[in-house]
Amino acid sequence: MAGEQAGADGAEFAAGLRRLLEWLHVPGGGGARNEVVQLVRTALGPAGLEESVVARELPEFEHVNLQTALDAWTAESGRRVEVRGVVLPPHFGGVDLQQLMTGEGLPPVRLSAPAVVDLPDGPGSTLACLRLALLLVTDDAGSYVLLVQGAGEHRPTMSVEVAGLPVQQAQAVLAELDRLRRELNVYRGRLVEVTPTQMGGVALSFLDPPDVRRDDVVLPGAVLTRVERHALGVAEHRAGLRAAGQHLKRGLLLYGPPGTGKTHTVRYLLGRMEEYTRLLLTGRSLGAVGSIADLARELQPAVVVLEDVDLVAAERFSHHGHGGGPVLFDLLDAMDGAAPDADLLFVLTTNRADLLEPALAARPGRIDVAVEVDLPDAAARRRLLDLYGRAVPLRLTEDDVAAAVERTEGVTASFLKELLRRAVLEALHDADPLTEVGGEHLRRALDDLLDSTQHITRTLLGVGGGEIVDDAGIELDGSYWPR
Ligand SMILES: Nc1ncnc2c1ncn2[C@@H]1O[C@H](COP(=O)(O)OP(=O)(O)OP(=O)(O)O)[C@@H](O)[C@H]1O
Ligand SMILES: [Mg+2]
Repeated sequence: MAGEQAGADGAEFAAGLRRLLEWLHVPGGGGARNEVVQLVRTALGPAGLEESVVARELPEFEHVNLQTALDAWTAESGRRVEVRGVVLPPHFGGVDLQQLMTGEGLPPVRLSAPAVVDLPDGPGSTLACLRLALLLVTDDAGSYVLLVQGAGEHRPTMSVEVAGLPVQQAQAVLAELDRLRRELNVYRGRLVEVTPTQMGGVALSFLDPPDVRRDDVVLPGAVLTRVERHALGVAEHRAGLRAAGQHLKRGLLLYGPPGTGKTHTVRYLLGRMEEYTRLLLTGRSLGAVGSIADLARELQPAVVVLEDVDLVAAERFSHHGHGGGPVLFDLLDAMDGAAPDADLLFVLTTNRADLLEPALAARPGRIDVAVEVDLPDAAARRRLLDLYGRAVPLRLTEDDVAAAVERTEGVTASFLKELLRRAVLEALHDADPLTEVGGEHLRRALDDLLDSTQHITRTLLGVGGGEIVDDAGIELDGSYWPR
């Protein structure tokens, strides 16, 4: 293993030395004879080679939008575009257009068929996107070259560069691509989950809209109405609010113990906000809130959901002692950056409002409504038994139900969901296929779940009732967003 590594290091060293020697001995840089450099130099001509390179860095998740924009741009009449692929051996960070114009400091590049990466451009569809390619363009502006380069192992962002045009014209090309990216943005009006990538960026993936109806959300009427009014009401009165000079941007905080329905409520809202671009962030992807807030602004009306924000608040809380880690402050700054009349909703969820409070107090005005989602009261527990018993052949007397409701004082909503699942299992032990679930099954399931020795099981299920529950919110299927 060590020998192999030494061999690889040696080869890398030799290759590096060869490049250095080439560069030293050949006038104009050794790379001038490279086929890629020759192609670029021929395409640009002597005048084009004099112009500056203008570059635009884009977040990795814009790759698919850039390709969509390029496809539309290429198809415009009066423009001819020839695409040539460039390959770079692995472990070379990247190449820039300046290097390809002069051949100086050139990594060992060569021409090839364009490498593409297949990226989702909608729920259930993908688009082949150029990974590293030259576009040789001829149009009204003249003859010029674009270099498109995806993010990679050593490059957290992607880029598009223009060479061969005066700076202003090159900027105009980039601005036109920006406009097309915005106009044709594949994320507009979609429900998108933001997940961290290995390269430190974020990837966006499409989710199916959740099917949670109002009746499926068991919360006190006043609480649900408040949430709805804040999230949905503004959308209904958008024009009126704007006309009266009132801001549309808003922040909603849902806080309460684990398993009480914060995520569930968010899913219900997202299902109803069909015309909104909906962006979901959690855990490590919360760090990307800045670029995601920019995206939301471009794609408004939009909702940005920041799930379990206490995870980032707690992350560096102890090191800073000013009521929140830097990620939390970034998050609050990103919320503030947007124009007030943008139709943007930020929804934050947490089960540690106490950790957020100091940060929110230090930066007021981001959250306009904080709603507590609490443990279900007796009436709510009865409704939850009904709700999760809908598809179950329940045969319960009023006494059975009353006993269960009484015994579950202080548990969470998700506990009651689990209780019915266990009751079905108990019934299946007695008779499979299932015929009915009776009071005895419900009692046995409840005995088992409430058994004090089952504390850890309850914690792992996230169905504990007001007891110490793991802050990290361990969930059994490993995803916070059930598909
Ligand atoms: N108020 C509720 N009404 C109906 N079902 C609920 C309710 N609360 C929880 N549930 C059920 O329990 C599951 C887990 O709840 P949810 O994920 O919404 O909890 P949470 O409050 O987001 O917890 P955490 O703080 O751990 O993220 C939901 O998917 C839903 O099926
Ligand atoms: Mg949750």
